[in-house]
Amino acid sequence: MIHSALINVMVKAARRAGRSLKRDLGEIESLQVSLKGPANFVSAADKRAEEMLYTDLNKARPGYGFLGEEGGIRAGSDQSHTWIVDPLDGTTNFLHGIPQFAISIGLKREDTVVAGVIYNPANDELYVAERGKGCFLNDQRLRVAARQQLNSSVIACGLPHIGRGDLALAQRELAAMMPRVAGLRRFGAASLDLAGVAAGRLDGYWERNLQPWDIAAGLLMVREAGGTVSGITGKDDALTTGDVVCGNEAIHAELIKVLKAVA
Ligand code: IPD
Ligand code: CA
Ligand code: CA
Repeated sequence: MIHSALINVMVKAARRAGRSLKRDLGEIESLQVSLKGPANFVSAADKRAEEMLYTDLNKARPGYGFLGEEGGIRAGSDQSHTWIVDPLDGTTNFLHGIPQFAISIGLKREDTVVAGVIYNPANDELYVAERGKGCFLNDQRLRVAARQQLNSSVIACGLPHIGRGDLALAQRELAAMMPRVAGLRRFGAASLDLAGVAAGRLDGYWERNLQPWDIAAGLLMVREAGGTVSGITGKDDALTTGDVVCGNEAIHAELIKVLKAVA
């Protein structure tokens, strides 16, 4: 598979930062047993990965803006292009040595995300997508799953946790969803949840209160794999609201129906 120069730049950056995170993951196991735990180490690993990504992307495309979870916005001279980067999505998993985390890089041109790369260095799964050119996992073209009914579908979601999220709302959503689906999952890395829908491993996914760096690349992937993406109300505002629902057209519609009824 031959990718564009743009995708090659993104993949190279993701792989270099990914090697660093993978090395750091190896350290984490031993830190679990120390009194201090791995929290400070993980925070340093996260920042280091973001700096690597900034350095590589900025070198390849000088002037593009850069929005990273750790460092915030770094404006560029080119107002129309912005990288949207989560150097470590799935921090809680990483901190616990669970190999479900990823680097997520999106490129926004004006108001549209035109390219995305999501890389899980733990299992070397690399997802790439370019607007109008499809979505690929390790060079294999992806297509969302075809299941038409919730009762045979596996659906991923996000859940509130200490200090975050609307517990009462999530409880209503779960109570409505659980008896309707073949299985609910909470994996803990939004970028990989979206990539999982693009890959047809998951039939659908919803989550609220996400940030652009969690979803910029993944939303494009689901669309490029033929899926439907929206905010929870059904409007095309997932990137700006941070609320996401996706799946194939039928599953997306079913999810919206269930979620709207308990909102
Ligand atoms: C988090 C993950 C998680 C989602 C959280 C995000 P982080 O990102 O994507 O799956 O439920 O809302 O904040 O903090 O690990 O980069
Ligand atoms: Ca994230
Ligand atoms: Ca993060």
